[in-house]
Amino acid sequence: MNLISNPQPQSKKLMNEKTNAPNPSRRRFLALLTHGGWVAAMGVLVYQMGRFLGARGLQTSPSPLVEAGMLADFPPGSTTYVGAARAWIVNVEGHLTALDAVCTHLGCLVQERETAVSGFHCPCHGSEFGAGGEVELGPAARPLRSLLIEVTPDDRVIIHT
Ligand code: FES
Repeated sequence: MNLISNPQPQSKKLMNEKTNAPNPSRRRFLALLTHGGWVAAMGVLVYQMGRFLGARGLQTSPSPLVEAGMLADFPPGSTTYVGAARAWIVNVEGHLTALDAVCTHLGCLVQERETAVSGFHCPCHGSEFGAGGEVELGPAARPLRSLLIEVTPDDRVIIHT
């Protein structure tokens, strides 16, 4: 009878424990992978927030009175963007109206529709506004804000933002 146990199984067990435990370089690689994933996710988040805020136009507010041009610059049937006022001037049969170009949904700048039906389209979430600023399609629930517009005796067009 052999009273001395065979040391081989124990050493085999030790070897298995050794090989199953993550070695320092593997642990470091996994940590780098995890941290790299977080950094990448934060980068994507910051980029998307920048795009969103850029689309909303973090421009400074226009000054309260903006000289848009001369009356002749806005002929009947025209729709003209005035960047300094962030506004659209619409001339319907000689009657000028000014609309704030900021979408009432989340603040993107609306664009003139490129269709036969005049009006405005918001590129951010698809709201549609009529030529008078009324909502035709959401998600925007409120019309574009009307701005006071005046024509001076010497035919200068002034927008009150
Ligand atoms: S910001 Fe215009 S539809 Fe959302």
